[in-house]
Amino acid sequence: MTIPLIAVLGSINMDLVTTTAIRPAPGETVLGSGFAMVPGGKGANQAIAASRAGGQAMFLGAIGTDVFAPRLRAVLTESGVDTTCLRTIEGPSGIATIVVDDSGENNIIVVGGANTAMTGLSAADLTAVAAADILVCQLEIPLATVTAAVRHAHAHDTTVILNPSPVQQLSDEVWDHVDVAVVNSAEADHLGGVLDRVPHLVVTLGADGARHRGPDGAVNTVAGPAVEVVDTTGAGDTFTGALAVRWAQGPATALRFACAAGSLATTMLGASAAIPWRADIEAMLEP
Ligand code: RIB
Repeated sequence: MTIPLIAVLGSINMDLVTTTAIRPAPGETVLGSGFAMVPGGKGANQAIAASRAGGQAMFLGAIGTDVFAPRLRAVLTESGVDTTCLRTIEGPSGIATIVVDDSGENNIIVVGGANTAMTGLSAADLTAVAAADILVCQLEIPLATVTAAVRHAHAHDTTVILNPSPVQQLSDEVWDHVDVAVVNSAEADHLGGVLDRVPHLVVTLGADGARHRGPDGAVNTVAGPAVEVVDTTGAGDTFTGALAVRWAQGPATALRFACAAGSLATTMLGASAAIPWRADIEAMLEP
């Protein structure tokens, strides 16, 4: 199998994770059971997932100069992600405040920090996008930069995988350059008919696996392996990174691999901490 070169453009955050039996209602105070600081951010999670799953991943993003920055850089390098295009911006790194309840569900608030300074692509970013087999993007950095990246990828025959999260309406130009959209059910409902324009649509279904609709309209659903869920944070990111690694082998193979990776990511607390390595994913897929 050829190792795909995957450029991931997006956010990197320090996740400030609080665990509690039940997430508080508006105006309510509850006692929590634990606290952890875990590197995350949709972009970084997807780059780490792609690298740990066996791809050659490069991260295009920005960290700050605060106390979190060294750990954020380290988690990328420790996972084998190429950080040549990682920028350092004077000021705070991105952070996410996350509350996880006993069922593994969460609420997340992101404060962009250095991610908001990703207002354009550098010459090195453009070279990386053009050289990559696959560009993976999400929507936690300025939209104009995502638009420029997908345009450049399209012009250089780099396959574009877009995970439009946090969900928002996008221009026709962005959709025209997307080869594969990866959304959860809520995002699919929010975006509606515009997703019909995308050649390949992948909808993640939580514990039920994932569904693929191809250019010919054929729909296939892949069941996810059953696991004991601790924390769903980053499971969709892990799915997307793993999907990119196996995309060249066809949607059915890629979805099966990505479902196993995403399921494994729910079995531990914390986004990057729970992202599995290739051997763990392949072990789960063994009969
Ligand atoms: O998708 C999960 C991620 O969303 C978290 O790691 C958090 O940082 C936010 O970006």
